Amino acid sequence: MSLLIRGGTVVNADQSFRADVLCEGDKIVAVGPDLQAPAGARVVEAGGAYVMPGGIDPHTHMQLPFMGTTASEDFFTGTAAGMAGGNTLIIDFVIPGPNDAPLDAFKQWSSWAEKSAGDYSFHVAVTNWNETISEQMGVLTREHGVNSFKHFMAYKGALLVEDDVLLQSFTRCLELGAVPSVHAENGEVVYLMQKSLLAAGITGPEGHPLSRPSSIEAEAAGRAITIAGMAGSPVYIVHVSARETVEAIARARAGGQRVYGEILAQHLLVDESVYYDKDWKKAAAHVMSPPFRSKDHQEALWAALASGTCQTTATDHCCFMIEQKLMGKDNFTGIPNGTAGIEDRMAVLWSEGVRKGRLTPNEFVAVTSANCAKIFNIYPQRGVIQPGADAALVVWDPEASRTISAKTHHQKVDYNVYEGLTVTGIPAVTVSGGKVVYEKGELKVEKGAGKYIKRPTFPSVVTAQTLRNTLTAPKGVKREPVAAVTP
Ligand code: URP
Ligand code: ZN
Ligand code: ZN
Repeated sequence: MSLLIRGGTVVNADQSFRADVLCEGDKIVAVGPDLQAPAGARVVEAGGAYVMPGGIDPHTHMQLPFMGTTASEDFFTGTAAGMAGGNTLIIDFVIPGPNDAPLDAFKQWSSWAEKSAGDYSFHVAVTNWNETISEQMGVLTREHGVNSFKHFMAYKGALLVEDDVLLQSFTRCLELGAVPSVHAENGEVVYLMQKSLLAAGITGPEGHPLSRPSSIEAEAAGRAITIAGMAGSPVYIVHVSARETVEAIARARAGGQRVYGEILAQHLLVDESVYYDKDWKKAAAHVMSPPFRSKDHQEALWAALASGTCQTTATDHCCFMIEQKLMGKDNFTGIPNGTAGIEDRMAVLWSEGVRKGRLTPNEFVAVTSANCAKIFNIYPQRGVIQPGADAALVVWDPEASRTISAKTHHQKVDYNVYEGLTVTGIPAVTVSGGKVVYEKGELKVEKGAGKYIKRPTFPSVVTAQTLRNTLTAPKGVKREPVAAVTP
């Protein structure tokens, strides 16, 4: 099947230019002026529109079993909603329990994801440490295309891992050529803060941000960065929400460490006042971790994206219905943590970012797809419009508007954190696997059409180099590289 996108302006992270884009099957085969449509080709007219790589959301949790319930959005509905928002790939998380084998969990998540309408990939969480986990991390990288492992520094008693696990796992990631990531919040301190807030009679959603101030995020991020420095590994910090965390990342990068930061679109727009809404349900709907912050953090987050201190944007799409949020009616620590956003990330970033002069269109592509594809090693298969890349793209209408509402969104959740916000700049057409999957407000998706995208590890020579730089021996002392690392 051939598809010609005609008359648009291609926007990549490095340049923009007028060109047609020809797709054959699931690949882009030509990009240039005045391309001829092969016989029988479908033609999409893109005059006045931008043609950009499909968005990659590097942080989603479809149908995640979490906090005694399961996220309401599944892999079919979630990837479909994502495509309505211009996304063509999600990287979700396989999260084994501390006593589960990572490979078993990977198989479980893979079977859930078979119904995906859009393409997907997996990070795998490390929630404990032992020989089996270390060995299976190797199997996951070699046989299953996993090149990133996530560590929760929060959620005591459930997913939290201590510093010794971080060091061992980061070292293993380095050896494998994989990228370790962290949810950076000091879970021990959060736990004690929660206990004292409850003891003081604070049981409502406002207890959530009070128990998780920005300082405990920055402390954990700083600790993860220090540990990555000791291991000589890179580290990717998910959902950076605080000015102090941005500063910690900037310091580490200036010092030569390979530290990456991800920012959620929700944190750029929504602030902590939502937790003080008199309507308990509305306040509880916003409970997610890290929580929404005071407005002064938001400008730091926008600046982090524009300056390159943070490289990616995500949503942490983890939906719970209001009925599920009611689990914490009398105790905020029981409210399932998570908010939705996959359908709105790109439009919100365009409308509030590009249109307000905070990001250029090329920076928009960098932070919605290209940087993510590079960090997680699927560039130029993804993240760029060029011959040979996957036919996964979005035709973007910069002038069209939409008012966001839970009444009209495709996400399987009964609230929207951007309710009532009008965004200008929205997808006109989304193409996935070389096919039009969203057009004129309508989804044309197929259950099971999504492909699993394997992500190869980085060559060990690159990561070993990082380690050697870190472990510079004092003058006159001969220090061998750590034995486990292949030069
Ligand atoms: O509140 C959140 N973010 N829920 C999903 C799990 C996580 O921490 O990423
Ligand atoms: Zn998290
Ligand atoms: Zn998450």
